[in-house]
Amino acid sequence: MPSRKPAQLHFNDMNNPPKTVIVTGASQGIGAGIVRAFLARGYNVVGTARNATKSRELSTSDHLALIDGDIGQFETAQKVAELALKKFGSIDAVVANAGIFLVKPFTEYTAEDFRALVSTNLAGFIYNRTTRGQANAGAKKRWKHC
Ligand SMILES: NC(=O)c1ccc[n+]([C@@H]2O[C@H](COP(=O)([O-])OP(=O)(O)OC[C@H]3O[C@@H](n4cnc5c(N)ncnc54)[C@H](OP(=O)(O)O)[C@@H]3O)[C@@H](O)[C@H]2O)c1
Repeated sequence: MPSRKPAQLHFNDMNNPPKTVIVTGASQGIGAGIVRAFLARGYNVVGTARNATKSRELSTSDHLALIDGDIGQFETAQKVAELALKKFGSIDAVVANAGIFLVKPFTEYTAEDFRALVSTNLAGFIYNRTTRGQANAGAKKRWKHC
């Protein structure tokens, strides 16, 4: 049976510069896997998490920029978008992967549990949409939110 390898896309000419993807929750787990998958396919990636720069699941690359921050803070989304535009010149897609899941019945949630859930899973997703405005301000940018 033939092995399945990721398609190797080549964006490295003037007409097809590499696309840039923002991945939230990039420090570990699914997010780190998404980062590696995009890098393997020739994309630039900006990865963010509270401990993104300390991640043991990511290797350094000229095509990878890491930035720490709480995704539930509006300023984090702004800084991430600014880094993407400054370092790679575009934002073509955002993978809003950062999230938390509490393993207990919701009837046992504390006020702090609920605050953390709303901050990370809801506000974090919505704040990242602000990157759309910044990307569009850069002109000729395609933009997708996953
Ligand atoms: N694994 C599953 O079976 C499963 C099933 C359904 C849905 N999901 C969802 O898929 C996503 C990834 O799952 P996973 O299993 O890879 O989770 P994980 O291993 O717990 O990773 C979560 C990622 O989100 C980041 N994160 C958490 N809170 C954050 C915050 N306030 N600000 C910024 N980054 C934050 C974490 O980094 P830092 O700690 O460094 O901030 C980490 O990189 C999550 O949204 C999860 O809810 C997972």
